[in-house]
Order: sequence, then C-alpha cells, then structure tokens
Amino acid sequence: MLPLEGRPGQISLLAGKPNENTFPLTAMQLTIRDPLASGKDMAVELSEDELHRGLQYGPTNGWSELHEWVYGLQVLQHGRHKGEGWTVSVGAGSQDLVFKAANAILNPGESVLVETPVYAGVLPIFDSLGCEMIEVHTDADGIRPDSLRSILDNWPATKPKPRVLYTVPYGSNPTGATATLERRLEVLALSREHDFLIFEDDPYFNLYFGSAARPPSYFALERDQPESGRVLRFDSLSKIISSGLRVGFISGPEPIVRAMDIHSMEVNLQPSSLSQAVAYKVLSTWGYDGFQAHIARVAEFYRAKRDAFEAAMQRHLAGLAEWSTPEAGMFFWFKLLLSDPSAPDAAADASDHDSEDIIRRKAFERGVLALPGTTFYPSGAKTAYVRASFSLLPPEQVDEALRRLRETILDARRERAQSQ
Ligand SMILES: Cc1ncc(COP(=O)(O)O)c(C=O)c1O
Repeated sequence: MLPLEGRPGQISLLAGKPNENTFPLTAMQLTIRDPLASGKDMAVELSEDELHRGLQYGPTNGWSELHEWVYGLQVLQHGRHKGEGWTVSVGAGSQDLVFKAANAILNPGESVLVETPVYAGVLPIFDSLGCEMIEVHTDADGIRPDSLRSILDNWPATKPKPRVLYTVPYGSNPTGATATLERRLEVLALSREHDFLIFEDDPYFNLYFGSAARPPSYFALERDQPESGRVLRFDSLSKIISSGLRVGFISGPEPIVRAMDIHSMEVNLQPSSLSQAVAYKVLSTWGYDGFQAHIARVAEFYRAKRDAFEAAMQRHLAGLAEWSTPEAGMFFWFKLLLSDPSAPDAAADASDHDSEDIIRRKAFERGVLALPGTTFYPSGAKTAYVRASFSLLPPEQVDEALRRLRETILDARRERAQSQ
C-alpha cells in the first residue's frame, strides 16, 4: 500500500518509518563535474525534501524519478519507448539485478547458455542455482552464433532446452570484444527459433570508443523483430558515475521485473535511497545533454588508456603474446606465446595452453598481477589467455608491468627449452 501514500490528500498511518528529523545528517552538498563546461566543478545541494527521501525507506523498485530518467535514456540510446511491454527497476548495481533475474527465471538444475570466456562474477550465480553452464564460444567479434546454433541444433531431445543466454555485448569482460551487428541479429533470430531469453549485461555500453559507428544493442534490435520481450537489459552507473554508489537498472518484460522486485522485498527491501538521491541529483542536474557529454569524455579517457596500453604491449610483448584491440570497456585479453617459434624443437605441449602457473606464480614473483584466463571458464578449462585491465594505471606503471611480464614469458620459454 506504500505507493498510495503519494496520493494527494491521504493522511498515512501506514509505514513503520523512522522520523527523518531524528537523523544526524542535516544537509548534503555535492561538488560535481559539469560535462558541458569542460568538466569544471559545480556545486549542488540536495533540497530538504531530497535529503529526507534519501535518508528514508523508499519504494522497492527504486525512485520513480530514476525510472523516468531510465525511460528517457532508453529512448535516447536504444529507441525503446514506454508501453512496449517492458518496465524498469533499480538495483544495487547490475550484479544484484542479474542475480535476481537468474533467480526469478531459472529452476535449480536447469541448463543456461553463457558466452565463454564469461564475466567471472556470474559463475557463482549460476552455480548456486545448480545450473549447468553451457559454454558458447566467442572470438574478437563477440559471441559466435555458429557455436550457439550447433549447441541448440544438437540439443538432446530428452533434455529441456536452455531458457537463458548470458552475454556482455560491448567491451566484454574479460575479452574486450564487442559483438558485431550481424552476430547480434543471428543471436536474436536463434532466441526466437529456440525460445530463450537474452540477458544483455551491458555495463560497458557507454565505454564504447570504436572508430566505426557502434552496433545497436539487443534491446534496440529486438524492437524491429517479429516479436519482442526476449531481452533483459542490464545497465549500470558503476563505470560512468560511481561503482561505490551501487546503482544499476533492469529494463525487461514486466512479469519478470515484478518477480525480481518481490525478491528485493524479501532480501534487501529496496536499493539504497541515499545512493539514488545522489545519482538522481547528478543526472537531473546534467540533463541528457550533460550525461551524453560526460560519457563521451569517459569513453575518450578509456580510448587514450587503451592506446597507451597497446603501445606498451607492442613495445614489450610483440612476438610474445597475441591480442585483438578492444573497442570498448577496460580489458585486454591476450594469449601468451609460451614456446619460442624459432626454437628448433618448438613442438607445442600442454603447458603452451596454460597461463595459470605463469601468471599466478611467476609473474607475481616478478611483481605483476593479472588474471589467468581459466578464471573466466565455467569448466575451469586451461587457456593461454590472460586478462589485463587498463583502466587505472598511469603509462609509466603500464610500461613497467608489461616489461615485467615480458621477462616472465622469456623466463618461461628458457625453462621450457632447458627441460626439453
Ligand atoms: C560484465 C559485468 N557485469 C556486471 C558487473 C557488476 O557491475 P555493477 O557494479 O553494476 O554491479 C561487472 C563489473 O565488473 C561486469 O564486468
């Protein structure tokens, strides 16, 4: 009944809310960047009402103003309008929402399709539901529809087909790959043919810095399909406003989103009011023009970081690793070339296909940390790939890190040559 409190004229004796006047926070001023004035600082203050609402319990599915902001964003970025059978809810980041969506839809023991390598943060979600993760291959152009088709066409007749595909379509974590338009359309066609939902987990959408026009999202593309309602889109403020605020959004079919809201009601009541108050203050102060200008600046920041990182890769790892250039996000995914191709007896052996020991032990001993690719495989498969993040380090440290990695690979090659 809580939403009824908003009706004019109602005197509410409903909620067991504490009185905000007893709370110690009495004002909140923020200094934020103004993206329309070259990022210059501007001062804003939460009104008394905004602050009180930020300090108080609020709606299970988040602030209605934020919903309206998301509806506006989806029109702007994906050409999707209210009233097309989808709705919005706010969560504590997209992680919270992916977890709740998986729990709303999947039954214990079901099979679920996951692009592989996959964001390692979803492995425990599907694991804890007892789901069997079916690995769909990817490459530098994102998810591979031929792999998906082959899995589904050869699915055993006696076993229920997977009802969910999980994918990160822009600047994937860990591969940095962005799926091409053709592949997205094929995946959408397969979702209709084989009747599954697409979890479009898209925290890197706004970190797209490719030189070509970006491909549309699944959420945008499904509007022009013979039927829609198969895409659950997960947006996040984590990579563009603040990861510590913990604010993310789901846009998807109403019955599923409502089931997720019931889950919120049970486990955490609602997303943080104060986080929403801060997020909304920033977003509403900027307006969409400011938001677009901000994300353009953020994407440009990461493009420059990517370029600096790649230049250091060329300097130190040419001939020792292979990679594709990411066009979004914050990750390089590269394959260690552990055997020296010029050595006379350089036949491949199993250790060529495993970066784990070299990264976890040898690179660590040389003072550089990265993630071995096996982390991102549901099966724990061995791989020569490694994930490196280029979001944080200044160029001098990138240079030193990759120099250390170079020494590590050369050491491993020497060791291997000696043992042969
Ligand atoms: C693909 C992917 N999904 C979800 C998340 C979690 O994002 P959030 O902070 O919005 O929960 C991350 C964080 O790194 C991610 O890479």
